[in-house]
Amino acid sequence: KEYENIKTERDGRVAIVTLNRPKALNALNAALMKELNEALREFDADNEVGAIVLTGSEKAFAAGADIKEMKDNNFVQNFKNNFLGGWADITTIRKPIIAAVNGFALGGGCEVAMMCDIIYAGDKAKFGQPEIKLGTIPGAGGTQRLTQAVGKAKAMDLVLTGNMISAEEALQSGLVAKVFPADQLVAEAVKSAKTIASYSLPIVMMAKEAVNKSFELTLSEGLHLERRFFQASFGTKDQKEGMAAFSEKRAPNFTHE
Ligand code: HXC
Repeated sequence: KEYENIKTERDGRVAIVTLNRPKALNALNAALMKELNEALREFDADNEVGAIVLTGSEKAFAAGADIKEMKDNNFVQNFKNNFLGGWADITTIRKPIIAAVNGFALGGGCEVAMMCDIIYAGDKAKFGQPEIKLGTIPGAGGTQRLTQAVGKAKAMDLVLTGNMISAEEALQSGLVAKVFPADQLVAEAVKSAKTIASYSLPIVMMAKEAVNKSFELTLSEGLHLERRFFQASFGTKDQKEGMAAFSEKRAPNFTHE
């Protein structure tokens, strides 16, 4: 499908979504977010897709929410329209999303990356929550998901100073899973996405949901959910196939059932 602000492509069971507003460093305006949510929902519903890669350009993953678009908003408009509320749609996608971040991931750009399940960074990537410099604060997880990812010390430093951190610092602080040379980043993300997409889709979806629930539940509730999902996994054909293949010393052939 053709979009104005994003590009989509398929590589086997992997869907790749590329943010594509180069003139504005992929600033996330309403039109782009609408297209992004539409594309993600479509891939989530597509049986032939097992994992999604979300990326931008080498210069910018996304330089934040679109400042020019929002600058004249007032409180009542923001409140009545629940401004930015729709961004959370990304977190309702049930298939894994790998964010492949080259260049700037600032403000809402960093927040969108953090809504994904895994962040891989190119070695020149820069992460930050610079909203404080604009007279506002992060509005889509920059005070919450960031703190969960990196802890209070780093989160406060980023949110209160508005300073950016490098890919290396983001790796050390647990914000990103891996760092690759910038020109290999997307290929590496697609490679991992292909690995994930080769596994049983319902089982992958259970694994994602269980990890995400760890942020919402107490330990005993989380362990309970995990054990029930684990037990339920034995109701799939793919569990039978996976364990039979191991016993027979052959590769499994998952059918996502
Ligand atoms: C609108 C933006 C933009 C943004 C960049 N541009 N970021 N437009 N919203 N967030 C536009 C610039 O205006 C410029 O357009 C073009 O993109 C290129 O940007 P430059 O500034 O010329 O590039 P450079 O000098 O390389 O600097 C890159 C940069 C800088 C450091 C990333 O653009 C920057 O500081 N951007 C703003 C980053 C930011 O504050 N993000 C947080 C936004 S608030 P023209 O037309 O002049 O060529 C936010 C709130 C989140 O995200 C709340 C929850 C979602």
